[in-house]
Amino acid sequence: MRVVYLNPCGQLGGAEFSLLDMLSSVRAAEPSWELFLVLGEDGPLVDKAEAAGVRVIVAPFSRSLARLGDSGNGLFGALWSSFTALAGTLRYAVRLRRTLTQLQPDIVHTNGFKMHVLGAWAHPKNAPVIWHVRDYVSTRPLMSRLLRLHANRCAAVIGNSKSVARDVQSVCGPELETLCIYNAVDLKRYSPGGEKMDLDSLAGLGPAPEGTVRIGLAATMARWKGHAVFLRALARLPGDVPYRAYVIGGAIYQTENSQRTLRELREMAAELGIAERVGFTGFLADTSGAIRALDILVHASTEPEPFGRVIAEGMACGRAVIASAAGGAAELITEGEDALAHQPGDDAALAARIMDLARDPELRARLGRAGRKTAERRFDQSRLAEELVPLYRRLTGHLTPEHQAHLAVTP
Ligand code: GLC
Repeated sequence: MRVVYLNPCGQLGGAEFSLLDMLSSVRAAEPSWELFLVLGEDGPLVDKAEAAGVRVIVAPFSRSLARLGDSGNGLFGALWSSFTALAGTLRYAVRLRRTLTQLQPDIVHTNGFKMHVLGAWAHPKNAPVIWHVRDYVSTRPLMSRLLRLHANRCAAVIGNSKSVARDVQSVCGPELETLCIYNAVDLKRYSPGGEKMDLDSLAGLGPAPEGTVRIGLAATMARWKGHAVFLRALARLPGDVPYRAYVIGGAIYQTENSQRTLRELREMAAELGIAERVGFTGFLADTSGAIRALDILVHASTEPEPFGRVIAEGMACGRAVIASAAGGAAELITEGEDALAHQPGDDAALAARIMDLARDPELRARLGRAGRKTAERRFDQSRLAEELVPLYRRLTGHLTPEHQAHLAVTP
């Protein structure tokens, strides 16, 4: 079997780490399969995918196509920029079709909105396309239209949570087969034991006194990831709480108007009077050592989070996690048992949850132990291939005798 994956960017955000997990899982389960990855941008993802045994082809997007997005511009803005990006997009689609014709895939698996549409245009007729949707579509005017328009060219859609699967189905209609495959994490790398990063020196701060509670938000800089809510919640903590906070991450995407800058966040921390207590690490390619160095991991997205890898990573590292419980993120935790929760955007509630944990090391330890158990049960990488391989085989008609026998007895 030959599977070609398509991904718009070459950076390392949640969607790309999830893609890498899939590649490693499928590679381990089916060593004889040929896996290719076509990227719309060069970047650190190339080496990581090659190290996972995948052949990578970089076919760069034009600048206008790379910057195109629904964020911030509204439908008209999006349509206008898409109009200006149209010529480049068409040229790209023709080139992609040529690449795919040469590669002769059995399956084309797309990971990211632009590649869903481009893959639908450019895939060879006999190679079914699977869209792996990792964000809500219904709130994006341009993408909703485009996906609905191309749904009949897609064989199946995977959502990274039930909530995302329902959302994409509401846009594309019930005829399109839609399933949910939760992400996984590398449970060896994201584990309670192992090296802890020195977050203070990484952020250019002096060493913190003994007994300091370390609180972190690890996220891309997308506006809806809730950096402002995090900072406002910290500013609400009583003065006697011995904490230090860390913003872990950097601006990695090219999509226009979609991200906060570190400068903006530093200014916000200064205005809130907490500048000396907040450190900024910048982008980290591997966050496991940073998450392990925290006592409390905060997830603060202001909109329903499609999945929220960082929640699974924090639980896998045995940390006390506070999640913004809406969308897919709410499906990952059992509140009070393996994590705490607050409503998206509610900085007062977030501050209260931080206080519960900052004052109670026992509670932190109990949630951490339970979180690790949940991660082992639900987020093991090997599950990805167990779910993907039968899907690929079914869509291509490549069923082995064992699979056929299995299907025959499964209701
Ligand atoms: C996207 C989603 C995020 C998810 C990631 C991996 O980045 O916004 O919630 O964790 O994809 O599926």
